[in-house]
Amino acid sequence: MIDLRSDTITRPTQEMLEVMMAAEVGDDVFGEDETVNEFQEKVAKLFGMEAGLFVPSGTMSNQLGVKVLTEPGDEILIDKKGHIFNYETGAASALSGVQIKTLNGSKGKLSTDVLEHSVRGGYDWEPRTRVVCLENSTNKGGGVCYTEEELSDIKEYADEHKLAVHLDGARIWNAMTATDINPAFFGEIADTISVCFSKGLGAPVGSMLLSSKEHIAKARRYRKMWGGGMRQVGLLAAAADYALEHNWGKLAEDHRRAREVAEVIYNSDKLAVDMNSLQTNILLFDTVHEAAADVLERLKEEGILMTQFGHKTIRATFHFQISEEEVEKVKEVLAEF
Ligand SMILES: Cc1ncc(COP(=O)(O)O)c(C=O)c1O
Repeated sequence: MIDLRSDTITRPTQEMLEVMMAAEVGDDVFGEDETVNEFQEKVAKLFGMEAGLFVPSGTMSNQLGVKVLTEPGDEILIDKKGHIFNYETGAASALSGVQIKTLNGSKGKLSTDVLEHSVRGGYDWEPRTRVVCLENSTNKGGGVCYTEEELSDIKEYADEHKLAVHLDGARIWNAMTATDINPAFFGEIADTISVCFSKGLGAPVGSMLLSSKEHIAKARRYRKMWGGGMRQVGLLAAAADYALEHNWGKLAEDHRRAREVAEVIYNSDKLAVDMNSLQTNILLFDTVHEAAADVLERLKEEGILMTQFGHKTIRATFHFQISEEEVEKVKEVLAEF
């Protein structure tokens, strides 16, 4: 099967497994796993942040970000397509006691126009708006990225309204590849950043929350409370570090392949794609007449898996373990549609 359902389905390579086996480990709940400590410092430094916390998943690092930036009863702002709102099992309300206000952005992105007049808290009976949550690149938005200017404007708005900024950077590596924005810039505009190593970078497990020392110390306690304190986890940090060092550079190829497949779709009269929205490894396209489920079934019969993203919308995601031959096969099958 050619599995384009997600960039999370990669398997550790032999080289990655060897690095894991050689990792120096200790008890990370005691703060004694040097592989983890060094990796946290390295990634924090990359983004110009004071500290990092290695956690099992992007969901946990997003939720820790929300937790350290809010008090129960607060409100957080996010685009209606945001992962924190759609795919984290309502955790922000369960774990932080905050309410989520969704905004009508574009392709998962917020802008100052959309944020305008969204801040509340002037009256005793209103929730206090505390955080703007951004996602870069956007998952449900089809992998689009913020420009530096858009982020600077949002940061200015946030400062003006005393809002903190949380950045869900599950695919920030893809965003940086597509836009050439320097990692330290993200550290300047965000109070907390969640980055993942288990998406296109290909680590089996692992995300990291980046922030100030004070926020990370707080997050560390909540990670333990939520059952995410891990022991000899240097094994996984070593895999994540390997992924960062060796696989970040491969993402541009994933973007090129997504574009090549999109071009075939663009030329089909049964399928439709907005080429201007295609910036990274996530390709969203629509069926013109048929239901997406029927198209997916036909693709499956040809040995190709993709994900349904709406009644007439399909998502294909590219990663480095999809070979050139497999991409050619996908193009051939789609061309015949
Ligand atoms: C944008 C975004 N944020 C967060 C996550 C959550 O990551 P995890 O599956 O590691 O919890 C995902 C997962 O796909 C994602 O796409």
